[in-house]
Amino acid sequence: MVYENVIVETKGHVGLITLNRPKALNALSSALVAELGQALDAFEADDEIGAIVITGSEKAFAAGADIKEMSAKSFTDCYLGNFITKGWEAVTKVRKPVIAAVAGFALGGGCEVAMMCDFILAGDNAKFGQPEITLGIIPGAGGTQRLTRFVGKSKAMEMVLTGRLIDATEAERCGLVSRVVPTAELLDEALKVAERIASMGRVATLAAKECVNKAYETTLAEGVQFERRLFHALFATEDQKEGMAAFAEKRQPNFKNR
Ligand code: CAA
Repeated sequence: MVYENVIVETKGHVGLITLNRPKALNALSSALVAELGQALDAFEADDEIGAIVITGSEKAFAAGADIKEMSAKSFTDCYLGNFITKGWEAVTKVRKPVIAAVAGFALGGGCEVAMMCDFILAGDNAKFGQPEITLGIIPGAGGTQRLTRFVGKSKAMEMVLTGRLIDATEAERCGLVSRVVPTAELLDEALKVAERIASMGRVATLAAKECVNKAYETTLAEGVQFERRLFHALFATEDQKEGMAAFAEKRQPNFKNR
């Protein structure tokens, strides 16, 4: 597969996807979004890969959907073409953990793609925002829903209604990002965290991700029940036996993903 808008690399057991349209601040054109989906599918299918990092450049993770590409679209084009659905939601379908390593601008669809990832590590120059209102539209890739769940109604409403950008410090304070690191160290740190995740037993890792995501979709009682069932199920894996034996023997576990 030849990619023109993303760079796809393997780093140990981590799949790294770098959004790469520097002249357009990684604006998410349909071609870029399609390639992102293909790269994610390929890493999902690769048994050697245990976690995925999506990043951009130091200046921009992504400055949103491609405004020039969509400006002439009609309602009918958007509706019949199912705009922002095909390809865009690929990140949410991946079962392996996906980390967004965000430096610079993560705006509009860029912020929304970052929020589709399992967590966001931010460089200290990161800026997040949903400026769609300034273009006469609203967020269309889940921003009104995911941002509200991350930061609460008050801040989400202010950001969505005014288009105000927030910096990395504010993003960490309100729970949008898990951590802020110096931008120069962002990619190394993201790869280190991803490699650590990839070193865990895959069955437990996927189960953990599924359980945390369930918290968004169900009641507390049902979510806890769901967690309990998967917790019980993990006692059927070789990795559980290995993990607990390694603890007792004071050594590192050697997980086989079985
Ligand atoms: N789409 C297309 N091109 C974009 C773009 C976008 N979202 N964002 C930036 N670019 C292009 C600019 O047009 C410019 O190209 P030219 O050199 O050919 O003119 C190039 O990238 C560099 O951008 P700027 O000169 O504007 O750079 P800057 O440093 O002065 O400003 C910025 C940076 C504040 C991010 C500014 O580019 C900006 O406001 N971009 C648009 C952000 C935005 O509104 N995003 C939301 C898009 S709508 C959306 O995403 C819908 C959805 O929910 C899915």
